[in-house]
Amino acid sequence: MTTSQPLIDPSAVTRIGIIGTGLIGAGWTALFLREGFTVTAWDPAPGFAAALLARLRQIFQRLDIPPAEQTRLLAALDCGGSAEAVANEVDFIQESGPEDVVTKRRIIALLDEFAAPGIVIASSSSGLPMSDLQAGCAGAHRLVVGHPFHPVYLLPLVEIVGGSATSPETVAWAETFYRGVGKSPVVCHSENIGFIGNRLQEAIFREALHMIDAGEATPEQIDAVITQGPGLRWSFMGPFLCYHLTGGETGIRGFFERFGASLTQPYSRLRAPELTEALLELVIGQTERAYGELSLEDLEGWRDERLLALLAVLRPRETTVTTKRHDFSGRADVR
Ligand SMILES: NC(=O)c1ccc[n+]([C@@H]2O[C@H](COP(=O)([O-])OP(=O)(O)OC[C@H]3O[C@@H](n4cnc5c(N)ncnc54)[C@H](O)[C@@H]3O)[C@@H](O)[C@H]2O)c1
Repeated sequence: MTTSQPLIDPSAVTRIGIIGTGLIGAGWTALFLREGFTVTAWDPAPGFAAALLARLRQIFQRLDIPPAEQTRLLAALDCGGSAEAVANEVDFIQESGPEDVVTKRRIIALLDEFAAPGIVIASSSSGLPMSDLQAGCAGAHRLVVGHPFHPVYLLPLVEIVGGSATSPETVAWAETFYRGVGKSPVVCHSENIGFIGNRLQEAIFREALHMIDAGEATPEQIDAVITQGPGLRWSFMGPFLCYHLTGGETGIRGFFERFGASLTQPYSRLRAPELTEALLELVIGQTERAYGELSLEDLEGWRDERLLALLAVLRPRETTVTTKRHDFSGRADVR
């Protein structure tokens, strides 16, 4: 396959292939079924079809989808007999196998071999550079990372990251396609490991582990500080806009004048602490004591219920403020 072969029109996609049906593959499947696509899924785990069906029913239940509608959506799901067979019959592939470079390279090479020319293949990888995954593939130009956030069927963000051999057309295709299925894609211009989202999440998590290690805070306190404070703002304003609104009349400039010096003081201990058995026991013990009364399934239901409520409030408004499109209708909520 050569780069001169055009990609199919994103709006012509009707059949989607899901390779790997664990947590993330199942989330993609739920999203694509709800968006009206036919989905063919495959996973090497024995009995994957039954496990996938059970997971989808659980997701649909949480999304309050009536049983008859669930049945209708599930009728558009087919469980394939092999990765090759799936690749052969679909218009787009979302790979969600294990986060291991050797395994991913093998799966992606196989999909590239069997998918028709013009079909884009996206990997859900959380941080592996596509340049490593696509090396040696004949159709390297149509391979791209489309990194979702969990739960995939609710959180809009997808980070799109091309490798050195990915064509600009493929990146643009992925952006158009994901936007068309209700996602909020962000094209990352650098292949740094961890992209953007996981680097930020993990920076906070590393700092939190240091606080626990030093006896300065518990998981319960840290979770409360985030959810009752910055986290509420972060659901609709990023850190730059937050600080722009904390600097007085001169915005972000005023922020640096007021608080810039504190950034250079040793507030942060961002190198990860050593994960000693003692630290792990402390973190795990405290976290389980804080949340252990509820099963993980109950907590997932609670999470999805709240995300649905939050999205229902935010979606009709602008969730991104740009210099071109202002909507300050939620301003009264900002403190
Ligand atoms: N868990 C998350 O929050 C999250 C978020 C975004 C992206 N991701 C990424 O999504 C991908 C899947 O993660 P997950 O959390 O769903 O893991 P998971 O362990 O739940 O699922 C992985 C699935 O891949 C299957 N598998 C094993 N070998 C395979 C092969 N050779 N070909 C195809 N499938 C194979 C397994 O049977 C399993 O069902 C990873 O690349 C991960 O980094 C995960």
